[in-house]
Amino acid sequence: MKVAATTILLLACTAILGACGSQGIQIAKTSPYHRGAVLFRDHCSGCHTLASVGAQGSATSIQNRLKTSGPNFNIRKENVEQVLYAIRNGGFSGAIMPENIVVGPDAQALATFLAAYSGRQAQKVPSVNITLSTK
Ligand code: HEC
Repeated sequence: MKVAATTILLLACTAILGACGSQGIQIAKTSPYHRGAVLFRDHCSGCHTLASVGAQGSATSIQNRLKTSGPNFNIRKENVEQVLYAIRNGGFSGAIMPENIVVGPDAQALATFLAAYSGRQAQKVPSVNITLSTK
């Protein structure tokens, strides 16, 4: 009876822990972006959010916002030049994010990865094309 109860308890714990575990990197090890994803998880996830690596460092509400909370890359789209600029200068403002956390080929791999995977949940804003008068 005791053994059965312990087993049930253990199974319940496993189920609960499994449900709450972090999602981790969702990019195949064979992908050319995998290295950049690992670098992002190791060096950037504390302050930025990005679903494809399970990073949740950005603020989720004004109440839990910290000075170090950086932009959420699920929504914010960056290109390679912007990421390299931010890495070298410490974000766009140079005030909070540390500079040169990664350098050289690591910075390049990270920038290529982030340019490809950022902005994937960005809202599409409907727009109308306007033809300007040439008169
Ligand atoms: C200590 C927290 C912290 C860490 C670690 C950090 N960042 Fe940031 N980052 C910020 C903050 C805060 C901002 C917003 C202020 C600014 O741009 O200066 C920012 C801004 C940025 C921006 C500009 C985004 C935009 O569109 O405004 C990029 C790109 C960026 N970070 C990339 C990275 C990358 C890549 C890494 C890992 C190498 C990283 N960050 C690590 C805090 C951090």
